[in-house]
Amino acid sequence: MKWYKIEDVPAADQPFIKKVKAGGKSICLVGFEEKLYATSAKCPHAGADMSEGLCVRKMIVCPYHRYTYDLETGKGGEGQNDFIETYPVDVREEGVFVGVASFWDKMRGGFK
Ligand code: FES
Repeated sequence: MKWYKIEDVPAADQPFIKKVKAGGKSICLVGFEEKLYATSAKCPHAGADMSEGLCVRKMIVCPYHRYTYDLETGKGGEGQNDFIETYPVDVREEGVFVGVASFWDKMRGGFK
């Protein structure tokens, strides 16, 4: 897994969704209840830009059809039977980093 430093991260004391690029991926960096999360910026339902959505009860809500996804696990809301990709976030002295696994990382890990 490769870690990418994210610039200009807002303070997490206020909720925010910031669209960033890391490892060639479009990612939503989300600050919610003083914790940072990272999900894909593309909705798995029909491709909406999740950075234009909102957060409610530790879920990111798609701006198009209001599907919801758990910020930690990526699991879709009840009855959706889908998920959004999530990424690890590491807050270090030198900044905030998001980890992106390569195809080969996933192969080695068996797509866990
Ligand atoms: S495009 Fe996101 S819920 Fe439909």
